[in-house]
Amino acid sequence: MKILLFGANGQVGRACRDALQQPGWELIALARKQADFACPEQVTATVQRSRPDLVVNAAAYTDVEAAEKTPDMASMVNGECVGSMAAICAALEIPVIHLSTDFVFNGQGSRAYREEDPVSPINTYGASKLKGERLLRAVHPRYICLRTSWVFSAHPGNFLTTMLRLAAQRTTVSVVGDQVGCPTYAGDIATTIAELARRYEEFGDLPWGLYHCSSPEPCSRYEFARHIFSEAEAAGLLDPAPWVKKISSYQFPTLAARPPYSALDSSKLAEILGHPLPHWNRGIRKACQVLATREEPSATPSLLN
Ligand SMILES: NC(=O)c1ccc[n+]([C@@H]2O[C@H](COP(=O)([O-])OP(=O)(O)OC[C@H]3O[C@@H](n4cnc5c(N)ncnc54)[C@H](OP(=O)(O)O)[C@@H]3O)[C@@H](O)[C@H]2O)c1
Repeated sequence: MKILLFGANGQVGRACRDALQQPGWELIALARKQADFACPEQVTATVQRSRPDLVVNAAAYTDVEAAEKTPDMASMVNGECVGSMAAICAALEIPVIHLSTDFVFNGQGSRAYREEDPVSPINTYGASKLKGERLLRAVHPRYICLRTSWVFSAHPGNFLTTMLRLAAQRTTVSVVGDQVGCPTYAGDIATTIAELARRYEEFGDLPWGLYHCSSPEPCSRYEFARHIFSEAEAAGLLDPAPWVKKISSYQFPTLAARPPYSALDSSKLAEILGHPLPHWNRGIRKACQVLATREEPSATPSLLN
């Protein structure tokens, strides 16, 4: 099976480069410079040229703050171009596995969000990702859209690596306690995508549609940080761990509003996989171990040039 992966240099993209490296599978892993979602013609031409059996899209404009200043670019990369990519895939009968976000919800819920719950994004990034979801659904009958949340890994530029960077500079780190969500390890998302790809290869079909894809057991950012520091201390990355001060979002103003409660109920996906995603604490341990040994999780194949 030939798989075309977009966004191969991101957290999930890198993890997919490992997880989709399997006997009998040919992986074409492309980063932004090879397939830029700001240029839909480039992306559609790539699909046409490669003729894969399956497309996995891990590319996205994920800078939530920057998206407020460049909404047109966020909308193009996360919205319009996803629609163009999906349209060419539909025409060529190539199924698509796409990723979306908990930020499509406004965060006013009181229980974990299910797939059928009403969406109402409160920032530009969330709105652009919702546009991508809708365009994908409108043009392609054979898609899997995995909404995930609070993605972390050993790769720089996420909550875990930011916390560890701050911890190396300070004795006290302030973290908001009034934002609740489901942290999810990039490696666990990639494993899920590989499981779905394997099933598609075997049966030539999948239960197409929208799924929530997060680790179980929501927590606050404050709790997430405390677990990160405790695992990092155990892995020898911090000596000692900093004191974590709980603050409110009001004390940490940001350009983009964040949903206060964006936990996802991923039981629909657990049902088709036969198991839930692992607890995020296991992912924190893995990421800390990777950082402690300063090695990548496995030999990562190089990108196609
Ligand atoms: N990160 C989270 O907390 C989070 C939460 C919920 C959902 N998600 C979703 O999960 C998916 C994977 O996210 P991630 O955490 O792996 O994000 P990431 O680490 O930021 O990776 C995104 C990748 O997309 C690439 N990209 C950005 N603009 C592009 C463009 N114009 N054309 C092509 N590629 C472009 C980036 O390229 P460069 O490396 O060149 O910048 C980056 O490698 C995304 O769909 C995201 O919306 C993420």
